[in-house]
Amino acid sequence: MVDVLVTGGAGFIGSNFVRWAHATRPDWRITTLDKLTYAGRLENLAEVMASPRHRFVRGDIADPAAAGPLVRQSEIVVHFAAETHVDRSILSAGDFLRTDVIGTFVLLEAAREAKALRCFVQVSTDEVYGSVTTGQSRETDELRPRNPYAASKAGADRLAYSYWATYGVPVVITRASNNYGPHQFPEKIIPLFVTNALDGRPLPLYGDGQYVRDWLHVEDHCRALDLLVTRGEPGEVYNIGGGNEVTNLDLTHRILALLDRPASLITKVADRPGHDRRYALDTSKLRASGWRPEVSFDAGLAATVAWYRAHESWWRPIKEQDPGFRAYYDAQYGDRRSPA
Ligand code: NAD
Ligand code: TYD
Repeated sequence: MVDVLVTGGAGFIGSNFVRWAHATRPDWRITTLDKLTYAGRLENLAEVMASPRHRFVRGDIADPAAAGPLVRQSEIVVHFAAETHVDRSILSAGDFLRTDVIGTFVLLEAAREAKALRCFVQVSTDEVYGSVTTGQSRETDELRPRNPYAASKAGADRLAYSYWATYGVPVVITRASNNYGPHQFPEKIIPLFVTNALDGRPLPLYGDGQYVRDWLHVEDHCRALDLLVTRGEPGEVYNIGGGNEVTNLDLTHRILALLDRPASLITKVADRPGHDRRYALDTSKLRASGWRPEVSFDAGLAATVAWYRAHESWWRPIKEQDPGFRAYYDAQYGDRRSPA
């Protein structure tokens, strides 16, 4: 059996990856290490909790006593754990530095001592490139992160690289574009807008709505990570993009159309400070290994909208009963009512 550690496996992408790996890799013994912050939900792992090939450990990646032994006994580490929401990083950046930078440092230090370690995947993001007005970011491009989340992730991305260059830790760095799919926390644009629309509530669109993101279905992301765990070159960076560049306004209209809700729900609100205009990735390096996105945006978005419609029991308690979510929503949107 192969010992695999997944950090942040109770979150959106991590839990999709754990479920995917559990179903497709019968020779993997998976340990999920997760602090269960507001974004980590054990119910995301319900399918695998009783499996003898999976165990869940609650712990902080920034705590060497919790994370160190788990890293040292692993052959593969897939490191998702992070604070991930740009708007929260603008409200308060401390946890982003603690988890995304220091937490990654703690894992990498332990990785230096992991005798059987074959691959440490540093799950980075396209946001490290900063805003891209024209063309597409390549792996060799300069990093120009422009918000505290992106800067923390860029720090972790380069720190991971340095542990390969300096100590030979087998680090593979991935930079994915915006993910969408089931189990995404309803603070990100797609689940927030879908669930608000289902309730007939306003969809708070920042600025002019002409910001562009390249949407990647989470299953295509899992397939890419699965490939890179075995075929990724240590010390290398791989972009993972869906090839679906869409403006936020267009995305919002698509969601409304799928739900048969009126465009009058769109409420233009004050813009996000330092809002990156566009992200776009050149994915030719990964495509050379045979990977292609398989989920079309039309089909993937329709399936995602259907998932939220069918899983109200997953998102409604978060939005309506979690006092932390209400406090965040008020802080984030309460004063934004003035139009852009
Ligand atoms: P998420 O916010 O849904 O989940 C993050 C998980 O990490 C949660 O389960 C949380 O409890 C856990 N966590 C947070 N701090 C921790 C700590 N100190 N110790 C242990 N666990 C901790 O995030 P996501 O959207 O699934 O993103 C996963 C990774 O992918 C992140 O590294 C993110 O930067 C990266 N990424 C995300 C996207 C995207 O569109 N969501 C795109 C590219 C890259
Ligand atoms: P988000 O889902 O927060 O992801 P990221 O900031 O990592 O790209 O935001 C995606 C886009 O949607 C981004 O351009 C900001 C915009 N957005 C809104 O217009 N309104 C919102 O309420 C949110 C959460 C995002």
